Amino acid sequence: MAGSHKDAPEPTDSAYYKAKYQSIEDLPSVGPATAAKLREIGFKTVESIAMATTAELINAGIGEETAGKVIEAARKSIAITFVRGDELVEIRKQIKQLTTGCPSLDTLLKGGLETQSLTEFYGEFGTGKSQICHQLCVTVQLPQEQGGLAGGALYVDTENTFRPERIQQIAKRFGLDPDEALRKIIFAEAYTSDHQMVLLDNADEVIKENNIRLIIVDSLTSHFRSEYLGREMLANRQQLLNKHMHKLMRLSRAFNTVAVITNQVMAQPDAFFTKGVQPVGGHIVGHMSHTRFFLRKGRDNIRIAKLTVSPSLPEGEVPIRITEQGIESDEEI
Ligand code: GTP
Ligand code: MG
Repeated sequence: MAGSHKDAPEPTDSAYYKAKYQSIEDLPSVGPATAAKLREIGFKTVESIAMATTAELINAGIGEETAGKVIEAARKSIAITFVRGDELVEIRKQIKQLTTGCPSLDTLLKGGLETQSLTEFYGEFGTGKSQICHQLCVTVQLPQEQGGLAGGALYVDTENTFRPERIQQIAKRFGLDPDEALRKIIFAEAYTSDHQMVLLDNADEVIKENNIRLIIVDSLTSHFRSEYLGREMLANRQQLLNKHMHKLMRLSRAFNTVAVITNQVMAQPDAFFTKGVQPVGGHIVGHMSHTRFFLRKGRDNIRIAKLTVSPSLPEGEVPIRITEQGIESDEEI
């Protein structure tokens, strides 16, 4: 259906993510009042409107007809519409890989973590989930020749575990200026699950302005888990988690970023193969994470990273080690 997007830029490497409309005010049918309403509900960029549903805009008091027009114009502007298979190949060429900075993990991933996709690290406390997130905040800043994305990171921290000093240590290992590295990380602490959702709902402008190429939510589930207790609250919790993950996925697609979530595990006594634990969040989190890693403790600072779900890669596991320098392959030591 090539004809439906003849006004849109060709999906070539340079043009695909370059929007025709730079700001939401440029969109047809968006006057100052509509623009203000859109901004109020967190739609501050053309990219985010392209990923919106009409219901979301109608709920904010925008007329149905206008909502439809605005979304259509935004979608055409950033070339999200029906595409032929050969065009899809071009679009998929936009997907970039981000090195983890740990050769054995990269080998398991055949390169690194992908943009436009969601990667989950789950495991017990102290298995290195947050440490991996810290390291990715540094590697994303590396130039593409070194496996980075030459961009910044957005870190949503729900457990108060982000440590700038750790970033500085890891930055030195990768030859980056430690203070410069910190300047390219945008940090937000989420105090409740509601706050966590609001942060992502309002992230699009920050992502665009700061050339963010990595979005981290560490951890995705901790607030939801502690606030929504008991069976009767489960359906509500799952619905909100679903919405939150969709938002993350849409940001990842719209801005061609890597998205990383961490997740805790809960005991599952009768499951032998999963070492008696399973990730929190059930089917919702399971279905929306494209790539999943299970981390478990080995001796000393060794951790075993097991790739348990991937759309294209075989399962496999490698030992990694947490050191002063960050996360390293075990055999490097
Ligand atoms: P939770 O968030 O509690 O579920 O755990 P997590 O999986 O996020 O664990 P995290 O990534 O915080 O890993 C903590 C581990 O990293 C601990 O075993 C620390 O000893 C280790 N660690 C953190 N900083 C350093 C460091 O500077 N040097 C070394 N050698 N180890 C470190
Ligand atoms: Mg952690």
